[in-house]
Amino acid sequence: MEIISNSQEMQARSREWRARGLKNGLVPTMGYFHRGHLSLMEYGKTLGGPLVVSLFVNPAQFGPREDFGHYPRDLERDAEMARKVGVDILYTPTAEQMYPPGYQTYVQVAELSRGWCGASRPGHFKGVATVVLKLFNQVRPHTAVFGEKDYQQLMVVKRLAADLDLPVAVVGRPIVREPDGLALSSRNTYLSPEERAAALSLYRSLIAARELVLSGARSRESILEAVRQIISSTPHTDIDYLALVHPETLEEADSIKGGARLLLAVKVGKTRIIDNTLLAETLLCCV
Ligand code: PAJ
Repeated sequence: MEIISNSQEMQARSREWRARGLKNGLVPTMGYFHRGHLSLMEYGKTLGGPLVVSLFVNPAQFGPREDFGHYPRDLERDAEMARKVGVDILYTPTAEQMYPPGYQTYVQVAELSRGWCGASRPGHFKGVATVVLKLFNQVRPHTAVFGEKDYQQLMVVKRLAADLDLPVAVVGRPIVREPDGLALSSRNTYLSPEERAAALSLYRSLIAARELVLSGARSRESILEAVRQIISSTPHTDIDYLALVHPETLEEADSIKGGARLLLAVKVGKTRIIDNTLLAETLLCCV
């Protein structure tokens, strides 16, 4: 595996691949890899072409009071994990290259960025859409792989690619969880043991919602009420939002008819955790 940190070099490499008819994949990340990231890389490997994993803690997507400064970073560990999966290039651009002095161009996916995490984190999706577009231009992937863990982000990126006619297929992959159900996240490292236990209430509430649906519940109120009960009765939790939404537009859905996504954002101690699941009339199994 090669590590490239120069964007010109990365662009030259992707031009070369294109000229040779190779179809490369991209997994964009902010590093501090866990099995969720690795599952995206493993999927990326099955695509058959060269696989690039970008690692860039993007300052543009963090709010002024957020955790940019202490976001976990460990390049050596990450490089070793990516190498083991068979990643071809770990692309680690610098902030100076991504946003040189005078930088002033941003893209915004208007509607999809407005609600939910966009409402709690103003400017977040503008930062995400901008960096993802830049990464797409630098790496020129045929396929880009994202996790459903950040469900709104996935929808924003899909819309970005469709609206700007980007020649890339954006693929979403399932959430990877700990054996007890907690969705893997680089930010889980912030949790104390008590908070880690409290964070499980998110998964428990998703399971409860699925069970409710299996036993016939359909309406938003009945489902969200059960979810709220479970989370708010758990210590150390502070609900940011609970939402039942249309799976693509992310507009609020009255019921799960036709399929809906249940989205949660909860502060556990000082750490904001998100999770989600599909709810549909034809649910077969668990999250
Ligand atoms: P990061 O949080 O590092 O996540 C990188 C990718 O891993 C995202 O597509 C995310 O959805 C996916 N991922 C995270 N946890 C996962 C899990 N438990 N199961 C499956 N996939 C998981 O998301 C970002 O970085 C950034 O916003 C980025 C897209 C790189 C732009 O800066």
